[in-house]
Parts: sequence; structure tokens; C-alpha cells
Amino acid sequence: MNTPILEVNNLSGGYGALQVIWNLNLTVRAGEIVCLIGANGAGKTTTLRLLSGLEKPMKGEIKFQGVTITSWLPARIARFGMTHVPEGRNLFGLMTVRENLEVGANCSPEAWQKKEETMDYVYNLFPILTERANQLAGTLSGGEQQMLAIARALMTRPSLLLVDEPSMGLAPAVVDNVFKALREVRENGVAIFLVEQDVRRSLKLAERGYVIENGHIVAQGTSAELMENEEVKRAYLAV
Ligand SMILES: Nc1ncnc2c1ncn2[C@@H]1O[C@H](COP(=O)(O)OP(=O)(O)OP(=O)(O)O)[C@@H](O)[C@H]1O
Ligand SMILES: [Mg+2]
Repeated sequence: MNTPILEVNNLSGGYGALQVIWNLNLTVRAGEIVCLIGANGAGKTTTLRLLSGLEKPMKGEIKFQGVTITSWLPARIARFGMTHVPEGRNLFGLMTVRENLEVGANCSPEAWQKKEETMDYVYNLFPILTERANQLAGTLSGGEQQMLAIARALMTRPSLLLVDEPSMGLAPAVVDNVFKALREVRENGVAIFLVEQDVRRSLKLAERGYVIENGHIVAQGTSAELMENEEVKRAYLAV
């Protein structure tokens, strides 16, 4: 539980010449949930994109499972166990639920070999997807699409999931289901780095958190500490 699975040192990055993330330092330990809190445009999605290789860092280092993976390509990072559930879900709308899951499993020979076993696991985690197995992903409800996006990422057999705004656009009861599943995923030993607008909910789920403002980490601590932090209370918890 105490081994860092992800260590980020002085990471900077952005888009072209535009720097968005400044000297980011953070750690995620094996099997823990850590959240990243920040206002719109603070750099949360960009942080996840840098971690999963979708953007190339300007400087700094990303170590994952003891290996420096800075500047690795996204497919190689996913194969090595870090999988991104993107903001907006990015499903293959004209493919069925099952086909989307197969795309996840296709990331490595090991994941492909364990495809049926992992599929049983994700169908168990999200029973509604079993009923929808042959339905086109584009025709699913928003909640079902979010579940499928998480399930597809789990098909890669990750040790760390990066999850961006899972509650976006969903009714509270559906969000409850998604968060319950994330808790179960953690109980199965998968660490989660979570970006979530619903700060109260994400601090309840996570062990620890970081606060990002204008691309800088401005606070960090256990969830209990952050919930008592005056700045966090004022800016994100509206109390
Ligand atoms: N593809 C891009 N090209 C140029 N600038 C971008 C691009 N994507 C994001 N940005 C800029 O980077 C900054 C951080 O954006 P980012 O999407 O990381 O924020 P965020 O914290 O995820 O916000 P939100 O809560 O709205 O999702 C913003 O100023 C944004 O305009
Ligand atoms: Mg974002």
C-alpha cells in the first residue's frame, strides 16, 4: 500500500509553446485513490494527458512502477498499466459494447489472453452492460457510456486508472453507481488518479488529494485535511 506506483517530478507541459502545467510534483501509491481538484481551465485534463502520453512534457520526469516513462507513446504507457478514461469518454459509437471492450483488451497480448475473464469482471461490476452487450455504444445513455468507458479501460488490466470527470452530465443516482464501481475497482487493487468537479464527492472517495490552480499545485493532503482547509472549503465546497 505504501509503494509509490506513480511519481511525478517537476513536470511541465502544455500545448505547443503555451505552457499550462508548471513544475508539478505528485505521488500515487499502489491501490490508493488520489484526486486532483481545480477550477475550470486549471490544467487537470492537461495533467492527465501528460501522464498518459497524449501530450509530450516540456520538462520533468514521470516514473511509473519504478520505470521512467517520460515521453513514452500512449499505447506503450497503456500496455505498461496506466490507462486513461478521458473527459467525454471517447467511445467508438458505431461499435457495440462488446466490441468497445475488445478494443480495450487489444492493448497487450496479456490483456487479450485474459479477455473473457476480464469481461466477466466488468460485466459483474456494471451489470447493465451485460444487457447492452450487443447495442451500439453511441445509443447508450450518458451513464451507460461512462460505465463503458471505465469498463473498456479496465479491459487493459491497468494498475493505475486516470479518470477525468466521470460524473459529467449524469444524474446523482447514476453518479452514485459510478463512484461505487470506482470504490470496488480500488478494492481489487487498482490505483485511481481522479479528476472530478464534485469535490465533496471525490474527497469522500479518495485517500488524498492535490489542488491545482493555474497549472500550479497549491495545496495537498489527506482528504480529511483538505476538507478542513479554509481555502478548499471556500473555493470548492461552498461552506
Ligand atoms: N488543445 C489545446 N490547445 C491549446 N490550449 C489548450 C488545449 N487544451 C486546453 N488548453 C488550455 O489549457 C488550459 C488548461 O486546460 P485543461 O483542459 O487542462 O483544464 P481543466 O482543469 O481540465 O478544465 P475543465 O474543468 O474545464 O475540464 C486552459 O487554459 C485551456 O484553454
Ligand atoms: Mg478538464
